[in-house]
Amino acid sequence: MISVLFVCLGNICRSPMAEVVFNHIINKNGFENNFLVDSAGLIDIHEGEKADYRMRTHAEKRNYCITHLSRPIKTADFEHFDYIIAMDDQNIRQLNKLITNKEQVSKIHKASDFCSIIKDTRVPDPYYGTDADFEYVIDILEDACEGLFHFIDNNQRVFI
Ligand code: 4NP
Repeated sequence: MISVLFVCLGNICRSPMAEVVFNHIINKNGFENNFLVDSAGLIDIHEGEKADYRMRTHAEKRNYCITHLSRPIKTADFEHFDYIIAMDDQNIRQLNKLITNKEQVSKIHKASDFCSIIKDTRVPDPYYGTDADFEYVIDILEDACEGLFHFIDNNQRVFI
């Protein structure tokens, strides 16, 4: 089992969206039994809440359904998950402050580094943004999650 944790600031917009997009890709490829996928936030103020209604609405327009409830990241996540995928450099900096041993640094990646179509350096925070900003979050996550899936495939050779 390969485990992937998507992380953003509030765990109500970008990372729950990433979780659903990545799940869609592994299902499409027939590997739903090979992965454990979750998401978490760096702040706990939205703990227990559904994803932001704007993110859920834009997700539904593309036939994705977000059911995740926000939860803050915990120390044990750094041990349990193989891949920790952040949305921007601020997330990366905060994650690096939370790790308990240096080996965990190599688990942390930035989602946009896996993009092959969209050239950007982060998945921008849409919280104070427009409809177009929420659409862009899904565009970039669809690109990034395809790339991540192939990166893990190459890395782990689990699918052979
Ligand atoms: P997310 O978006 O990190 O993509 O879930 C945000 C959600 C909430 C806040 C900021 C960003 N907030 O400040 O409450």
